[in-house]
Amino acid sequence: MNDTFLKACRGEATDYTPVWMMRQAGRYLPEYHTVRSRYTFLEMCKTPEAAAEVTIQPVDLIGVDAAILFSDILVVPEAMGAPLEFHENRGPVFPSPVRDEAAVNKLIVPDPEDELGYVMAAIRLLRKELANKVPLIGFAGAPFTIATYLIEGGSSKNFFLTKKMMYTEPALYARLLDKITDSTISYLKAQVEAGAQALQLFDSWAGVLAPRDFAEFAHPYAKRIITALKASGVTVPLIYFANNGATLLDQSKTVGADVLGLDWRINLDEAARIVGPGIALQGNLDPCALLLPQDKLEQRVAAILEQGKAASGHIFNLGHGILPEIPPAQAKLMVETVHRLSAKK
Ligand code: CP3
Repeated sequence: MNDTFLKACRGEATDYTPVWMMRQAGRYLPEYHTVRSRYTFLEMCKTPEAAAEVTIQPVDLIGVDAAILFSDILVVPEAMGAPLEFHENRGPVFPSPVRDEAAVNKLIVPDPEDELGYVMAAIRLLRKELANKVPLIGFAGAPFTIATYLIEGGSSKNFFLTKKMMYTEPALYARLLDKITDSTISYLKAQVEAGAQALQLFDSWAGVLAPRDFAEFAHPYAKRIITALKASGVTVPLIYFANNGATLLDQSKTVGADVLGLDWRINLDEAARIVGPGIALQGNLDPCALLLPQDKLEQRVAAILEQGKAASGHIFNLGHGILPEIPPAQAKLMVETVHRLSAKK
């Protein structure tokens, strides 16, 4: 099996730098649209055969070194009892937002096999279909990021309602976050039992918090998930990705993760200095830089590979999800360039 990705996560020597892309199973691929045309997005998440098919597409078409399960971070709050809708071109919507005590009380901590069994079924199917070609990454949203969607009722610009609850009803906020945290721990444990070989925790909105608020309202919950997973005997690599989190790195390094994902707003060598030894880094090409002509793209890749040498293990990735507008050939070129330039002679 190609275990280059898992080795790099553990800080072990590899023959070349492994690479995958956040949102690699997605709309930039015409082959994704072909499958997607038969289902709504949520139907596709809940149909293991369809989820497995689009999960494998970038492995075969782009040549990445890891597969990431096709699903969404918001299936967890849906399983907790908050109805979820995806509106074409408007993203996710929770029509009954969670903003008061009654709404928090109504949320359950779901049994993952009962409420999210379709995810475990997709993972089991994928381990069979991937046949150890590349490792399979499972994932969940970090509690703060999930809470923003529940409280705001969808995406947000300034997160006013989330911060309002943090500042004016901190006990209610903590109860909501505790429920999300407990749900996420059992969900991720179940993913590993089903066959996930690494886990990534997406804290997509952590970057909207002041450092002291990240310390109080986000970091403790992410840390509790990682601590609980390790205490329960989970040994697969755990990746924490705080988007727009360069200014939070001195805190993220204590979250307990084996790997920290980084966006493009910081150089990897500087990040490695802040994080210190013992934690691998994942990242961090600006997704838009995939539009560069070949020679300039190659220079960017080379610079990131060079900076990545400062870390205890480097997994090449984009700094955030690949955009639907990116030509697949450019993604493939990037992956080939990472492999070629990083190959040990
Ligand atoms: O990375 C992968 O390829 C695995 C699949 C994956 C998806 N969403 C598929 C998806 C993963 C890991 C996610 C995580 C996710 N979902 C995050 C965290 C990562 C990040 O981007 O910061 C967040 C914030 C969400 C919530 C979400 N899901 C939003 C805001 C949207 C709409 C935004 C958009 O890009 O349109 C989604 C929809 C979504 N999730 C799509 C895909 C492929 C597009 C659905 C479609 O086909 O229409």
